[in-house]
Amino acid sequence: MYLSPRFRAFAAGAALLAASVLAQAQTLPNVVILATGGTIAGAGASAANSATYAAAKVPVDKLIAGLPELSKVASVKGEQVLQIASESFTNEDLLTLGKRVSALAKQGDVDGIVVTHGTDTLEETAYFLHLTVHTDKPIVVVGSMRPGTALSADGALNLYDAVNVAASQDAKGKGVLVTMNDEIHTGRDVAKAINIKTEAFKSQWGPLGMIVEGRNYWFRAPVKRHTMQSEFDIDQITALPQVDIAYGYGNVPASSVEAIGKGAKAIVHAGTGNGSVANRVVPALQKLREGGVQVIRSSRVNTGGFVLRNAEQPDDKYDWVVAHDLNPQKARILAMVALTKPLSAAELQRVFWEY
Ligand code: DGL
Repeated sequence: MYLSPRFRAFAAGAALLAASVLAQAQTLPNVVILATGGTIAGAGASAANSATYAAAKVPVDKLIAGLPELSKVASVKGEQVLQIASESFTNEDLLTLGKRVSALAKQGDVDGIVVTHGTDTLEETAYFLHLTVHTDKPIVVVGSMRPGTALSADGALNLYDAVNVAASQDAKGKGVLVTMNDEIHTGRDVAKAINIKTEAFKSQWGPLGMIVEGRNYWFRAPVKRHTMQSEFDIDQITALPQVDIAYGYGNVPASSVEAIGKGAKAIVHAGTGNGSVANRVVPALQKLREGGVQVIRSSRVNTGGFVLRNAEQPDDKYDWVVAHDLNPQKARILAMVALTKPLSAAELQRVFWEY
């Protein structure tokens, strides 16, 4: 069959292009995006709606399709694990997500994992994965403060950053990471500090680094135990114990603790200042402790506390535990994971010093 020189040249060019795209795809890292919902999957009625919108609406395939830049960063696949607003996460959701992350991390054809998540409890899920998934591959949890339909939405760049970090060799071995607003945080320290700004996430000891135009700039690394160094393994956990949080405040009644402690393996007390407990609440906590419930003192201060043993409460005498610098919701995650094993208060305190 006669083929004109022009057509032959076109065919040769097309073949070269296809070969280079295929070669690039074969050399790009493989990143899986596990979607769970949240604002990053949210949608508002108009572009002016940056704060009023419905979370957990946009499916993961649409999130990926809306970000063609990802194709130059990694070979990306998406899975819709959940589609919920993160305030509604349950312990079962944590286990489902954690086991999926663990299974994917074991696959030779997966180089990194991104979890898209609502920002309300993102810090809890990130810490849970940090404590229980045994891999040194990058796992990056990401959300957004504005829905993709809003003017100056932050989700696209946050997701682009998350995939870049998940595809990076230099992100390996740093535990679970969170990319928000150009910063890279450790899943252990990061917390949502405000609910109405794109600069919403803070780590009280500072971010680990920055990510700018797809490049990671690292300034520190985590020193507490995580992932490969953790004694807790998601693959060995079938259920998480009930751990609840009691909030301390002026005029707080003892009943606030009595009601919460029932059926719990541990109670985290979000105390004032140094994690202090009102004198009328102490007997209720002592009674829970006598009944076998672990008592963990954390602080309600919003930049994260620094609670030490026997500072304003005789923890040795009461056989209580201190959460050190973990905020109450992080302390709850660590206590839940730790108490999948039968630990004494002294052993639980060791865990709080080490993780
Ligand atoms: N409902 C909140 C959540 O899913 C929305 C907040 C957000 O994702 O930024 O966490």
